[in-house]
Amino acid sequence: MKTPRHKTLITEKRIRRRVADLAEQINSDYKGRELALIFISRGAFVFTADLARKIRLPVRIDCVSANSYRGLKSSGKVEIDANLKIDIKRKHVLLVDDILDSGITLNKVIRRLEKLGPADIRTCVLLDKTSKRKVPLKADYVGFEIPDVFVYGYGLDYDEYCRNLPYVACLKK
Ligand code: IMP
Ligand code: MG
Repeated sequence: MKTPRHKTLITEKRIRRRVADLAEQINSDYKGRELALIFISRGAFVFTADLARKIRLPVRIDCVSANSYRGLKSSGKVEIDANLKIDIKRKHVLLVDDILDSGITLNKVIRRLEKLGPADIRTCVLLDKTSKRKVPLKADYVGFEIPDVFVYGYGLDYDEYCRNLPYVACLKK
């Protein structure tokens, strides 16, 4: 598949700056502590790689996989595989996702991780489509609030393609 005609919604430069700001905030909020950085695979892999490299705390990284999108539309049903390799009992968890949309995915993953007895769980998302929320959920760290448009690139997919674009794009009308 060829990359669809698109326009850049958030440039590489803006992403880089914002990710650095978020990491600074996290470094200061968790000062003196250790962090379990859990990302939701696969969409958050690029964001997490960039964020993690700016974090100056003892950090362990693991992932859970969640799938709700089929093609370009959310199926509404979320499948979660939360088989962690690291133990998060009594640990500080920072859950990282690419985008907070209806909130169903993040909410389900939080409920699942809570069963593993962490000290606390905070959430960090690169993008937030606030207008689409179906469950009341606010992320603790948000990169950018965006309008209700389908976006891809920087880890997010367009029907599984385009995750490798270094910026966040949306379709050109
Ligand atoms: P939610 O459960 O509706 O909050 O959906 C969150 C998940 O849907 C994210 O982890 C993304 O993988 C995916 N998603 C939501 N909006 C978009 C989009 O605009 N582009 C690509 N993936 C999206
Ligand atoms: Mg995702």
